[in-house]
Amino acid sequence: EKGTYPFYMLKEIDEQPTVMRRLVQEYQGDNHQVNIDPALVAEFAQSDRIYIVACGTSNNAGWSAKTLIEKLTNIPVEVHLSSEFAYDMPLLSAKPFFIYLSQSGETADSRQVLVTTNKLGHPALTITNVAGSTLSREAKHTLLLYAGPEIAVASTKAYTGQIAVMSILAKAVGEYKQIQAAKEFDVFHELSIVASAMDSLINDKQHIKDLADEFLATTRNAFYIGRSNDYYVSMEAALKLKEISYVQAEGFAAGELKHGTIALIEEGTPVMAIITEEVTGSHTRGNIKEVESRGAKTLVIVTEKLAKPTDQIVLPTVHPLLSSLVSVVPTQLLAYNATIQRGYDVDKPRNLAKSVTVE
Ligand code: M6R
Repeated sequence: EKGTYPFYMLKEIDEQPTVMRRLVQEYQGDNHQVNIDPALVAEFAQSDRIYIVACGTSNNAGWSAKTLIEKLTNIPVEVHLSSEFAYDMPLLSAKPFFIYLSQSGETADSRQVLVTTNKLGHPALTITNVAGSTLSREAKHTLLLYAGPEIAVASTKAYTGQIAVMSILAKAVGEYKQIQAAKEFDVFHELSIVASAMDSLINDKQHIKDLADEFLATTRNAFYIGRSNDYYVSMEAALKLKEISYVQAEGFAAGELKHGTIALIEEGTPVMAIITEEVTGSHTRGNIKEVESRGAKTLVIVTEKLAKPTDQIVLPTVHPLLSSLVSVVPTQLLAYNATIQRGYDVDKPRNLAKSVTVE
């Protein structure tokens, strides 16, 4: 039930801190250990390459988890679109391990790949919100998101839930492999900090609504830019904006702007930049200057430590491997408010279904 909320999407955005805390409860075992089937952890740890296969927002969650899995487990990660993988399968490594990300567990494009990798005998894990769903039944392993039903077509809490579950799993695998970075990563403590950071952004709704009114109420197009993890969140931020507000939005790697995209910048084009990393932050700042000098109107979403007084949205500090969980929240609220402003049905965008059960 959406209760006093005008739309499910807003309720589901608001639930994200609760989902983070619930995941801590569900996956934290005795003595602070991760409570995940040891057979799953061992199989993952013994693989030489992880293949994440998913569509839409779940695919973006895969990208956002890539670095953290690689850093904590020392296993390379590839992220693939199900609909592409199905017809153009990459050469697989000697010991591949597949992760299927799917809120609904019913996405036909992903299922098609799972059927194939099952036939090839490769181990598979489905990370889903729906116990007993098709992808869950057909994969060898399942981890649940415990996010509660997600009703709005635009996925929000499933994205953050998926990244959080992958961080917990990566911690367990890294510890199993005795990786120093994993031993030092106190995942449950860090996810609690993420939950509080999300709370504070959600409490700042009015500010984000004002920014949506200023930047996105009438524009025809908009761009998100960032580098590495901030680029991956940019892709998700753009998908959210386009699917419900119908603003033509794209997420770009900030460094690629000058290789083509900058040609699209006109007087007043909104460009939202995400900056959570020190190493890439100054380069993205340079790109902000470049687009501003071509007339772009820029909105900066930046982590506390790197913030300048003119930046519009400041993110509370969290562990760098988990930055996406926090930076995505204002972008969800921007998309939501832009859609309200433009007078569309937030929960039921045109031409889209909640779960896509045809290929
Ligand atoms: O249920 P799934 O996670 O497999 O769904 C995948 C996509 O269809 C889904 O994420 C879609 O892109 C959403 N509408 C995005 O908000």
